[in-house]
Amino acid sequence: MRNLKLTALGALACILLAGCAEKDDIERKVDELLSKMTLREKIGQMHQVSGGADLAEAAAKGEIGSILNCVDPDQINAVQRAAVEQSRLGIPVIVGRDVIHGFRTIFPIPLGLAATFDPELVEQGARVAAVEATASGVRWTFSPMLDIARDPRWGRVAEGSGEDPYLDTQMGVAMVRGYQGDDLADASSMAACIKHFVGYGAVEGGRDYNSTMISERSLRNTYFPAFKACVDAGALTLMTSFNEIDGIPSTGNDFLLRDVLRKEWGFDGMVVTDWNSSGEMIAHGFAKDLKQATEQSVNAGVDMDMMSFGFINFIEELVAEGKIKETTIDDAVRNILRLKFRLGLFDNPYVDASKTRAAAYTPESLEAARRSAAESAILLKNDGGVLPLDDVRTILVTGPMADAPYDQLGTWAFDGEPEHTVTPLAALRERYDVIYEPGLAYSRDRNTADLAKVRAAAARAEAVVVFVGEEAILSGEAHSLSVLNLQGAQSELIAEAAKSGKPVVVVVMAGRPLTIERDLANCDAMLYSFHPGTMGGEALADIIEGKISPSGKTPITFLRDAGQAPFYYNHNNSGRPCNGTETLLEDIPMQAGQTSLGCTSYYLDTGYGPLFPFGYGLSYTTFEYSGIALDSTTLSKDGVLGVEFDLTNTGGRDGVEVVQLYTRDLVGSVVRPVRELKRFERVALAAGETKHLRFEIPVADLAFWTRDMKYEVEPGEFQLWVAGDSASGEPHAFTVE
Ligand code: GLC
Repeated sequence: MRNLKLTALGALACILLAGCAEKDDIERKVDELLSKMTLREKIGQMHQVSGGADLAEAAAKGEIGSILNCVDPDQINAVQRAAVEQSRLGIPVIVGRDVIHGFRTIFPIPLGLAATFDPELVEQGARVAAVEATASGVRWTFSPMLDIARDPRWGRVAEGSGEDPYLDTQMGVAMVRGYQGDDLADASSMAACIKHFVGYGAVEGGRDYNSTMISERSLRNTYFPAFKACVDAGALTLMTSFNEIDGIPSTGNDFLLRDVLRKEWGFDGMVVTDWNSSGEMIAHGFAKDLKQATEQSVNAGVDMDMMSFGFINFIEELVAEGKIKETTIDDAVRNILRLKFRLGLFDNPYVDASKTRAAAYTPESLEAARRSAAESAILLKNDGGVLPLDDVRTILVTGPMADAPYDQLGTWAFDGEPEHTVTPLAALRERYDVIYEPGLAYSRDRNTADLAKVRAAAARAEAVVVFVGEEAILSGEAHSLSVLNLQGAQSELIAEAAKSGKPVVVVVMAGRPLTIERDLANCDAMLYSFHPGTMGGEALADIIEGKISPSGKTPITFLRDAGQAPFYYNHNNSGRPCNGTETLLEDIPMQAGQTSLGCTSYYLDTGYGPLFPFGYGLSYTTFEYSGIALDSTTLSKDGVLGVEFDLTNTGGRDGVEVVQLYTRDLVGSVVRPVRELKRFERVALAAGETKHLRFEIPVADLAFWTRDMKYEVEPGEFQLWVAGDSASGEPHAFTVE
């Protein structure tokens, strides 16, 4: 046994030493190359431009370090050949692209991926995306988007993992691992880019690009964790965000880019701006012109400029004027060269175009996309067990999203190909006798002329399945909404279906949680599918017919009304938390006394609670938690909170429950959230099966940034919940001494 241990230790030591040797070797190569470069050549590396073969001439002059938005392997090779074979030092370019939730095979939008609560599957999907994208010559994706989002009016909630830092972290790390793979120099390794650093999801009013006001403590407790975890997981690049925080644009914020990212976290990757986010500091009123914006960006710690053209046009002048030190340029170029050496671009700069198409849509990739779409679907309502529709033959399929191959892919699916999309209509036709009456042509359609056809068709069907939601364009960047109801006449369509008296199933395909309370009242069952991607139809049909039991959980709170935003489960309690005694609008007596309605934190019209809390989702079966027991209720700061319990499938069908563990720090040097997700796990149970489960949470995981801005666990009283969503379960008390 002893020899075995020595062997294992020896092997580990060799691996670590080999890694260090490789790191040193890269640093040596970086320094050696840097020493040969002119200032112009260094500046060229810091310049990223959108385009393809048209950039070959500039690449041949060493004026471009990266291109983005070209996915044609022949054009990429043309630019690369110019850079490698014609420029003086032959430094390859790195090709970037927004591969956000798949390249050719499109997976659910990231908000849907988060709804799976399945990091392993998300990592698998990211790996699929990397294999497909790198086969086209793309070696850098601008993903994962880690922005915590608490306001569904913001269109970019679609691109992230929702409102919770822990879920965001798990999903972000999974994507970094999937994209980058086990060997960065492997041709299928694609550099991740954690974005948008930072706080972009807190834009006021949920209006994209707007101001944010985030304290340093909130940054550290809420917005930093996923970025820090991804840095620790080896993310190779980071992108600055468009927003300003308390008046300082992230692209010019040295506290973020140098103090936190480099000094505190030890990040040795490469920092790129968002698209012209350096130039946008003029509009912010932070720079008087592009030259000053360039000076601010470079001195704040930006390495590469995406499309402002400030770096290529002004850095030489700024260095000559002493406003930027050449050592600062050297540091930036080191980060860029290091990235390119790590990816093996100097040894293998070209892509084999003959293999590009074969890499796409493999059966394994499509199966991963189908599984992801299936696990991302959230069952919000199922009155009377209407779903699954396993006892009917003839169904009416209606709604503008039933056969929308382009919109089903969702936002940021540039390279998806709608002709490969399996729509719900196509998939259901393989399973049922389908009557198809779309009723509306697209999600914003207000023309109700065809609703009569829907009514007539429903009379001939045994059940009605209504596919509604959002066209892809209605979420994503710059697509904020102030009202979150279903667009067009979709609610009228659902109400029309309800008049048929037949069982009505509504399936929502959208890029955000919409305010669907009134639509819920007009259906027996509702499935929510954040734009499910290429295989969404297969996945939804499998669920509708009962082949799969839904297991998705809400990664973001569903509101009753947009006016409740921002609303999130892990909120602070306020001094007057809602206690259920509040009087609602319709119950207010005439001439009610000023203080007679209940002075707590709620809305007279919509009350307090959300429509559905974070972590919520039904199944075709039911689950029961029992025997929850803590190893100990008194713990030291370096202890481990052990909890065991039984989970039973108390229903008649197999199913998967996403078990969630939440804690609460009852009293802190600063107020603390009413719940915080600390663990989750997908647990599969056959009908009637019970599993005994154990979780261990190091007490260190209860640390936070305190009033003194120290990251530590404060002694005191805590509570633990083990439940199927953030609003369920009973608190179990424990103490940290
Ligand atoms: C966009 C987005 C960013 C994206 C970049 C390149 O404006 O903000 O997320 O990666 O530009 O397309």
